[in-house]
Amino acid sequence: MLVPAQKILSRALKGRYAVGAFNTSNLEITQGILEAAKKLCSPVILSTSLKAIRYAGGPDVFVAMVRELLKKYRVPVSLHLDHATDLLLVKAAITAGYTSVMIDGSHLPFRKNVALTKAVVRFAKKRNVSVEGEIGVIGGSEDYIRSKKILLTTPQDARAFVRATGVHSLACAVGTAHGRARGQREYVDLHLVRAIARAVRIPLVLHGASEGISQDEIRKAIGLGVSKVNIDTDIRLAFTEALRVTLKDKSVYDPRTVLSSAREAVMETVVEKITLFGSVRKA
Ligand code: G3H
Ligand code: ZN
Repeated sequence: MLVPAQKILSRALKGRYAVGAFNTSNLEITQGILEAAKKLCSPVILSTSLKAIRYAGGPDVFVAMVRELLKKYRVPVSLHLDHATDLLLVKAAITAGYTSVMIDGSHLPFRKNVALTKAVVRFAKKRNVSVEGEIGVIGGSEDYIRSKKILLTTPQDARAFVRATGVHSLACAVGTAHGRARGQREYVDLHLVRAIARAVRIPLVLHGASEGISQDEIRKAIGLGVSKVNIDTDIRLAFTEALRVTLKDKSVYDPRTVLSSAREAVMETVVEKITLFGSVRKA
């Protein structure tokens, strides 16, 4: 069932667990994620970036694929647009049938970020679609989003931003970075998570939660109010590593054999994450 993320996340915030937002870009990754969700009876958020949408051929491709798959995988799923930076893309995704969008105005000055996010909220809320905003700057790079520096979110900015925009959930910069760890220190500033959670009282979103962050920090952050944890890099690593192993055997030339192992690896990774986030049997 495709549902707005807000439905899944408000329950998560109350129950002090988090729902994984797993990035996908093709059929096999999507199946791997949904298989894990079904196995553990967990809600999940299927996340797609602009690059993934371009790769697939448009947002409607993901909508059609996910709707069809959900006839088999009967768990609550939200189809989410990740890190959109303009209203046009948001409108295209919502019109196609997405049930959740993130508008990332974190590169803009505060007032412009508020104005852009408000425009998205206005469009989305009428259509029962959830909106995630971002304040502060998350480091690292993922598809078209990149920043060399992390600019930590302040609780004051977070409160003012949420009040001014009416977003359902908030991505904040608390020490993590997108992409591979690459030697830089990544952490979750738990004092800051607590302070932001108290300031806004809506589900917080932890971006850049793949390699480099300890499981213990993630668990503690969830206990403090993080209700959505974003994972992309760990899925890409699992998928490509499995491909490399399978392709070592030169006699294998059936794409279905090659991709089945990658799909299985994604499933196993997502099973680990769902267990860590505490959303088992919350579907
Ligand atoms: O928006 C997606 C996530 O923040 C991905 O983070 O690259 O650490 O998996 P990651
Ligand atoms: Zn992100």
